[in-house]
Amino acid sequence: MQIVPSLFAADFVHLGDDIQRVEKAGVKMLHVDIMDGHFVPNFTMGTPITEAVRRFTRLKLDHHLMIEDPDTYAPIFIKAGADCVSVQYEVCRNLDRTLHMIQDHGAKAGVVINPATPVGLLENVLDIVDYVLVMSVNPGYGGQAFIPHSLEKVRDLRRRRAERDLTFNIEIDGGVGSDNIGEVARAGVDWVVAGSSVFHTADPAEAVREMMRAAEEATSVKV
Ligand code: DX5
Ligand code: ZN
Repeated sequence: MQIVPSLFAADFVHLGDDIQRVEKAGVKMLHVDIMDGHFVPNFTMGTPITEAVRRFTRLKLDHHLMIEDPDTYAPIFIKAGADCVSVQYEVCRNLDRTLHMIQDHGAKAGVVINPATPVGLLENVLDIVDYVLVMSVNPGYGGQAFIPHSLEKVRDLRRRRAERDLTFNIEIDGGVGSDNIGEVARAGVDWVVAGSSVFHTADPAEAVREMMRAAEEATSVKV
């Protein structure tokens, strides 16, 4: 299991410092939230940030597109430096085509489901996707409360993955911190996005380490 810090919660005036802090804690990937003010009622960052971060770090950049038109913008973010790009199920009319397009541009392709979107709708793309992102809050804002039924979706995805012998990763996003990472880890998530619980603390590196410790403790087999 990996912690994937979300830059949305970082200090944009000192973004490089915040990235170095979590790098020091051993993270392998950063989560980059892209919002267009249409799919969600908020804006975040565009390609200049992706390009700057790409020049600054070798960490993988996981882009979460909360936008109405991922077909136009996914290639632009990949060119700017995104390694992984996820698109919201709710906006994709031709999801199969969109996922292949992302992979053809050289990135890992993920599909995101909102809290009200059932896992069953992904049945016919689970053999295509590199990862599935389960939203555990409604997208658009950081610092919201975790929606518990998201963990049932994670367990459902794990069952489907095992039954069909597939290899996609399972990511969760929203409301995860040291208080609930134990149950998130036990549900079997591979990538845990964490924004405010990492960057809105005095020591983001220690926050990451603390969450990793809590996750390990929750999943270690007691003998
Ligand atoms: C919410 C974003 C999240 C957000 C998570 O729309 O997709 O990635 O940064 O923030 P926290 O961890 O504070 O809930
Ligand atoms: Zn996100």
